[in-house]
Amino acid sequence: MSKRIVSLVIVLVLLLVMAAPTMAQDGPSGELEIFSWWAGDEGPALEALIAKYVELYPDVEVNNATVTGGSGVNARAVLKTRMLGGDPPDSFQVHAGQELIGTWVVADRMEDLTFLYEEEGWMDKFPQGLLDLLSYEGGIWSVPVNIHRSNVMWYVPAKLEEWGIEAPATWDDFLAVCPTIQDAGVTPLVVGENWTVNHLWESVALAELGVDGWNGLWAGEKAWTDEDVVAMWDKFGEILACTNIDVDAATLSWQQATDKVIAGEAAFNVMGDWAAGYMVTTLGLEPGVGFGWVPSPGTAGVFMMLSDSFGLPKDIKNYDAAVAWLKLLGSVEGQDIFNPLKGSIAARLDSDLSLYNAYLQSAAADWQSNEVVGSLAHGAVAPESFSSEFGTVMEIFLNSRSGIAAANAAQAIARQAGIAG
Ligand code: GAL
Repeated sequence: MSKRIVSLVIVLVLLLVMAAPTMAQDGPSGELEIFSWWAGDEGPALEALIAKYVELYPDVEVNNATVTGGSGVNARAVLKTRMLGGDPPDSFQVHAGQELIGTWVVADRMEDLTFLYEEEGWMDKFPQGLLDLLSYEGGIWSVPVNIHRSNVMWYVPAKLEEWGIEAPATWDDFLAVCPTIQDAGVTPLVVGENWTVNHLWESVALAELGVDGWNGLWAGEKAWTDEDVVAMWDKFGEILACTNIDVDAATLSWQQATDKVIAGEAAFNVMGDWAAGYMVTTLGLEPGVGFGWVPSPGTAGVFMMLSDSFGLPKDIKNYDAAVAWLKLLGSVEGQDIFNPLKGSIAARLDSDLSLYNAYLQSAAADWQSNEVVGSLAHGAVAPESFSSEFGTVMEIFLNSRSGIAAANAAQAIARQAGIAG
């Protein structure tokens, strides 16, 4: 090798060595705090996504900050204190729809993410209806990672066979079979802590009011005091009489309520399809064998949806790392890592369904073909001013078991929230 070539090689090597640190600094670094309620049994899907993030951005240290409590009951309160105290996490879990728009967007605490949708070419990668739910005053305010279904009834096929019953198609079918199940010493329908009762309620309301009635409540076109709404509450009371509401409900998390079905102590449970995630990912059950599912009674052909999304608060500590997190969440790769473990389907239209189990494939087919409505219990349809007060309505109902008392209370808070029909 001539001297000139040797010197050239040395110069090139030196240049590369000097450039290396600059190249590494191009990616985000420092700490990234991701805030959610996906702790413990709810954690595996998020953990898998974080593992991917760390692989892509090794200079970032992720702080997976969780506040336990199904449906975010506790996390939302902690988030509120932090947001109002000027200490926002870098990114936080929030339901697509009014839960985000009606709180932090109207309060001007969030960054508009339209730029990210444009940069990443996402505008036509998500269903338009979902984008509408994330949009407000010309901005798009969070990135959806999934679609969950609220109106699903779960059971164990072998147990139903043993008891000689079938999954009910309507609530009247369920009420008819309730005594048979009780005679076998089994709880017909298991519920858990407070929010799971609201969760059951929304499936009953959808069945009894139909799609137009349900949507009418949120569009300010239907009054809570209408005769059919009052009758729905009374039907809900009859259904509750077939549950463990007055026994041990308050002490059960949603996972523990699911466990009762698996153990054969309860016949049915109405829960969102994170229950499928739990039964597959945590309990190792096979869909269709270890557990079965039907749309909750009276709601076949309707998909009550909710979507977990993540937003970008203003004035955070690590903007670059948070934007990189949102990019991964919204990517097809990120969604296909997260959702098969979580029990949800991808929010994106181009995910690879072959990675999803039999339950999720059936949910994906229904998502395509069913009528879609939004969930109250999981933030899609009503502003927080209504949904946070709905617990009081339920309490009034549980104490009085009076449909008219609950209807009047709901109408009053709907009026206060500006959504009364
Ligand atoms: C929902 C949330 C789901 C799941 C569930 C139970 O509100 O959207 O992802 O976490 O609560 O905690």
